[in-house]
Amino acid sequence: MRNHLKHLTRATALGAVALAAFSLTPGTATALPNGPEPGPTVVGGTPAAQGEFPFMVRLSMGCGGALYTKDIVLTAAHCVDGSGPNTSITATGGVVDLEDSGATKVNSTEVLQAPGYNGTGKDWALIKLAKPIDQPTLKIAETDAYNKGDFTVAGWGADKEGGDQQRYLLKASVPFVDDATCKGAYSNLVTGEEICAGKMDTGGVDTCQGDSGGPMFRKDDNDQWIQVGIVSWGEGCARPGKPGVYTEVSTFAKDIKAGADQLGG
Ligand code: ARG
Repeated sequence: MRNHLKHLTRATALGAVALAAFSLTPGTATALPNGPEPGPTVVGGTPAAQGEFPFMVRLSMGCGGALYTKDIVLTAAHCVDGSGPNTSITATGGVVDLEDSGATKVNSTEVLQAPGYNGTGKDWALIKLAKPIDQPTLKIAETDAYNKGDFTVAGWGADKEGGDQQRYLLKASVPFVDDATCKGAYSNLVTGEEICAGKMDTGGVDTCQGDSGGPMFRKDDNDQWIQVGIVSWGEGCARPGKPGVYTEVSTFAKDIKAGADQLGG
């Protein structure tokens, strides 16, 4: 089913509502006329403090991202159109308030979409920037050792299903959901390439449309932030029994590193 969804445009029509419930489309609010209305995003979130997650980047197509290096953003494959030279994306960094006059705005020069990406799994991409954003970077998990516990998510996406994109960065904490449980929720889950998180029993906290591409992260054993996931998809947002699905970063750590080398990062 998700194979069809990558072709949905950003102007997803109301007629596509049933499909859009699973949408990978960046920044597209999915209206659900009769659907549940879960709590406040980043459903169930609270505002992040300026400087709290300095690696967070907002991308102009309506996605999030994280600084992998100062001039390479790690985001989701479904947020970009393909690989090659690309000067059409603007990355905004260094702020929680997107309208802050102190924001750093830098254009892209090139995009590398995950090799073999076809709308299922492999949902990662790298965006090379024309100049560095002078903020701390977020290191990525290279093993599955951190695929457990509670994760932090952050983004400027919708604060509820069908909700508006946000001016101020929101954050939330979501618990790990094991593959077997998540496969029960989503039969199409690619367990080796995707990792799930969310409150299975109550819902209420989740990423949502427009958070895609942003990082899911936690503290490592040295108390440093480490990225374990990339916001990818889910059925609606924050629904009980329907966790968020994230790209399993450790699975692709070597590919991401190789891709960054290729981009001259
Ligand atoms: N695909 C969405 C986007 O482009 C992210 C959806 C995440 N959904 C979820 N329930 N966690 O922003």
